[in-house]
Amino acid sequence: TERSLVLIKPDGVARGNIGEIIGRIERKGLTFAAIELKTVSEDLAGSHYAEHKEKPFFGSLIEFITSGPVVAAVVEGPRAIAAFRQLAGGTDPVEKAVPGSIRGDLALETGENLVHGSDSAESAQREIALWFPNLASS
Ligand code: GTP
Ligand code: MG
Repeated sequence: TERSLVLIKPDGVARGNIGEIIGRIERKGLTFAAIELKTVSEDLAGSHYAEHKEKPFFGSLIEFITSGPVVAAVVEGPRAIAAFRQLAGGTDPVEKAVPGSIRGDLALETGENLVHGSDSAESAQREIALWFPNLASS
């Protein structure tokens, strides 16, 4: 079994899509090891998206992810990291995310694409430690 760090970003919370997104995760067969509504500090946002620090969109990305509460969750199951990336769809909700995916069905803009999911085992370990420091790692 594997764990992934999933976020429902501020647009998803504000639009009332928490239930829809959680439902899709559960329907896939993944389970929740942790879930919490959280206000994101600039510090946490910067650490979470550290890999994008030099990108032109970094400032707007941090502004967006700190603009309102997010749902942070640890999702668990066989191949959970790839499974959630499949559920989420590609980064650009129109050009990359396919219909049937969360972004493909529910989002329009790359900057407001509803969800985050860890992209590798290394990212998942780092992100789970960052968002849920009290969660035992295994
Ligand atoms: P996350 O799950 O949020 O990490 O998305 P991702 O893994 O599909 O994409 P990536 O890690 O490459 O980028 C992180 C986030 O930055 C994306 O979800 C977008 O919201 C934003 N982003 C990425 N590329 C662009 C871009 O070219 N323009 C803008 N405005 N935002 C971008
Ligand atoms: Mg990413």
